[in-house]
Amino acid sequence: MRVLVTGAAGSLGRTVTVGLADRGHDVVGLDLLPEPEGFDGPWYAVDCADPDAVEAVFQAERLDGVVHLAGDPDESALPAALVSHVHTTAALIDAMVAHGVRRLVYASSNHAVGGVPRSEPVDETTLPRPDTYYGVAKVAAEALLRLAADRHGLDTIACRIGSFRAQPESVRQLATWLSPDDAVRMVEAALTAPAPGFAVVYGVSANTRGWWDLEPGRRLGYEPLDDAEEAADQVAPGPDDAAESAYVGGPFLAPSMHRPAMRDA
Ligand SMILES: NC(=O)c1ccc[n+]([C@@H]2O[C@H](COP(=O)([O-])OP(=O)(O)OC[C@H]3O[C@@H](n4cnc5c(N)ncnc54)[C@H](O)[C@@H]3O)[C@@H](O)[C@H]2O)c1
Repeated sequence: MRVLVTGAAGSLGRTVTVGLADRGHDVVGLDLLPEPEGFDGPWYAVDCADPDAVEAVFQAERLDGVVHLAGDPDESALPAALVSHVHTTAALIDAMVAHGVRRLVYASSNHAVGGVPRSEPVDETTLPRPDTYYGVAKVAAEALLRLAADRHGLDTIACRIGSFRAQPESVRQLATWLSPDDAVRMVEAALTAPAPGFAVVYGVSANTRGWWDLEPGRRLGYEPLDDAEEAADQVAPGPDDAAESAYVGGPFLAPSMHRPAMRDA
């Protein structure tokens, strides 16, 4: 497939672009930043929230799908979060509809349901329960994916990613870790699954301590192979472990994350 990867210079983006290329896909990169050393393919250093810039990319490239990873992975005031996650997604969907590109794989987040307590199941029917404005924006971006599937028949997959790291770094992450290899497996499965329509996938590895439902991903062909438990002896206990394990969103539930919606903190 010829795939546009947004956020291609980022943490996930660098792993996914290399992984997709290794698996035989043609990758077109897009990021605010210049292309990283070693990237092989067309590169667009543009703002994904700018609909004219995104449209120009689609005019220049024949694409089979989009992997949308561009966005600020941290909490911010609400307007910035909406631009970063909702405006970028909307600009891409507009261009996809205009150019007949039918597959969108989106880096959503566990923080879309971060307010769900540990005692409750987490599956594809879990209702939105954001833990931050970041989470609110991810919920809204997922709503755009749903609308695009219903209105235009696009295949749109919301990957609610846990903790993408080279290795798990905290006790919570022993449950929420997404390994680099599993991230590539997940994205490729979401790109190539036959006619999924709108779908939710939990972006985590096959962690022994995990509790988010892996079945929706497996139905799309995402079979995670890594397990954070193999690195458990390298993870030191921390003072916030109990609090971070009480909700899906872990540290994003901490009072220190509270801030006004409409002003910079
Ligand atoms: N890393 C995780 O554990 C994790 C977990 C859940 C969800 N996510 C989501 O995955 C995506 C990628 O996360 P990451 O950890 O790689 O973050 P990152 O900050 O490493 O990379 C994001 C990239 O997107 C680019 N970018 C940001 N806004 C842009 C814009 N408007 N136009 C073009 N490029 C833009 C940045 O320059 C950066 O290179 C984000 O949407 C994030 O919310 C990440």
